[in-house]
Amino acid sequence: MNITVIGAGYVGLITAACFADLGNEVLCIEKRESTVNKLQKGESHIYEQGLTEILQKNLEEGRIRFTTNMEEAVKFSEVIFICVGTPQSDDGKADLSQVEEASRQIAEHLNGYKLIVEKSTVPVNTHQWVKKTIKRHAHEDAQFDVASNPEFLREGTGIYDFMNPDRIVVGAESDRAQVIFEELYAPFTKEGRPLLFTKPAAAELIKHASNSFLAMKISYINMISSLCEKVGVDVNTVAQGIGLDHRIGENFLNAGIGYGGSCFPKDVQAFIKIAEDHGLEFGLLKETEKINAFQKRSFLDKIEDILWINKDKNITVWGLAFKPETDDIREAPAIEITQELEKNGANLHLYDPEASDNFKNILAESDNVKYFEDKYDALKDADALLIITEWQEFKLADLKKVKELMRLPIIIDGRNIFGVDEMKEFEYYSVGR
Ligand code: UGA
Repeated sequence: MNITVIGAGYVGLITAACFADLGNEVLCIEKRESTVNKLQKGESHIYEQGLTEILQKNLEEGRIRFTTNMEEAVKFSEVIFICVGTPQSDDGKADLSQVEEASRQIAEHLNGYKLIVEKSTVPVNTHQWVKKTIKRHAHEDAQFDVASNPEFLREGTGIYDFMNPDRIVVGAESDRAQVIFEELYAPFTKEGRPLLFTKPAAAELIKHASNSFLAMKISYINMISSLCEKVGVDVNTVAQGIGLDHRIGENFLNAGIGYGGSCFPKDVQAFIKIAEDHGLEFGLLKETEKINAFQKRSFLDKIEDILWINKDKNITVWGLAFKPETDDIREAPAIEITQELEKNGANLHLYDPEASDNFKNILAESDNVKYFEDKYDALKDADALLIITEWQEFKLADLKKVKELMRLPIIIDGRNIFGVDEMKEFEYYSVGR
C-alpha cells in the first residue's frame, strides 16, 4: 500500500519507518528541510533504539522517501497519517494548530478518495474539526474519510511497540475505511493481535484514557511509597503483592521520582481540561498531578535531610533523560532537581549516556555545573551520588569502583535500581524502602 505520513517527529518517523518495513511504500513529509535532508541520507534526528537501522534498510530498498512538498505527499497515496505535534497551550489544552494546518493542506491537494488518519494525540471529537476543515477547503465532491488510530508507542522502545502491539485501536466510520485498516494491519492481526474498531470519538478518548490511567497508576504507587517510608515497609514488596493480582497487573508499579516525558504530564492535563470543558471535575487526575509534583519535591527534601547543607558539596547526578533509552529531557525530573541544587550552590557533576547535550540547553556548563563523558569520571570526589534515571549501565556499575572514587559513599537513588541488601557498603537511600 502507498502511505503518506505527515510529520517526522517521534511518532511520524517511527510510523513511517515501520510501515515501510512491513512492505508498504511510504512518503513522509516534514516541514524542516534540514531534517528531510538528514533523513534522506539515513540519519535520524532522534535517538530511538533500532530506528537508524530500519530507516537505512528501507531507504536502500526504496520503500521510504522524505519530502517537504505537500502536494506530492497528498497525491502519493490513499492513506494519509497525520502525525504532527499537539503541544500544550498555556491553559493546559492541546494546541491543535498543526492538525488544522495539515487538514487544510490535505484538502487543497485532494485527488480522489483519501483516508485521513489522526495519529497525533488529540482531544475527543477533534476528528469532527478535521472533517469540517477538509470540507471547507476541498472541492465540493471530494471523497474522504477521517479516522482515528492512536499510537501507544513508548519512547525508547517505539519500534518494538509498533511491531508488537498489545492492541490496535481504530476509530473509523465507513466500511471502505475499515477494509483499508484491515489490510494495513493484517501482518499483526494474522499473529492474533487484536484490532479494535470503534467510533472515532471513542478511539480519541481511549488514547487519553490509557495515558491518564498509567500516570494514575504511577502516582498511586508513589503515594504508597511515601506511606511505606513512614511505616517501615518496602514499596517493592507491596508492588509485587498487589501486582500479582491480574486485575491490577505488575507493570507501571515502579515507585520513583515521578513520571515525566512529552506525554503523561501533557496528556493528564489535557484530559482534565477536556472533562472540564464538559462540566466535569476530574479530581482523580488532579490528585495524580499533585502526587507527581510532590514526589520530586520530597526527593529534594530527602537530599537536604541527608546532606544537610548543599552549598559547595560535590553532587554527582547519574541520569538526565526522563527515562532510559532516550535523549529526551522534556519534563524530566532531573530538571527541577538539578536547578534547585544549583540554586543552593552545589557543585554538580552530571552524566547521562545520551541526554547531556539536550540538558545543556536547560543547565549550561559553568564553574558549578560540569558534564562528564563517563559515569565514573563524574564520581571523583563526590559527596553524594543521585540516581535520577534507571539506565541499564547504572544497574551494572562496578560498586567497588564507585565507592573508591567517591569522597563520601552516599547514594540517593530515585529509581530504586539497587537492592537494599547489596548496598550495605554505602549510606544508601531510595524511595519507599
Ligand atoms: C507513554 C505511554 O507509555 C505510551 O503508551 C504512549 O504511546 C506514549 O506515552 C505517548 O502518548 O506517546 P512514554 O512517555 O514514552 O510513553 O514513556 P513511559 O515508558 O510510559 O514512561 C513515562 C514516565 O513514567 C517516565 O518518566 C517513567 O520514568 C515513568 N514511570 C513509568 C514510572 O515512574 N514508574 C513506572 O512504573 C513506569
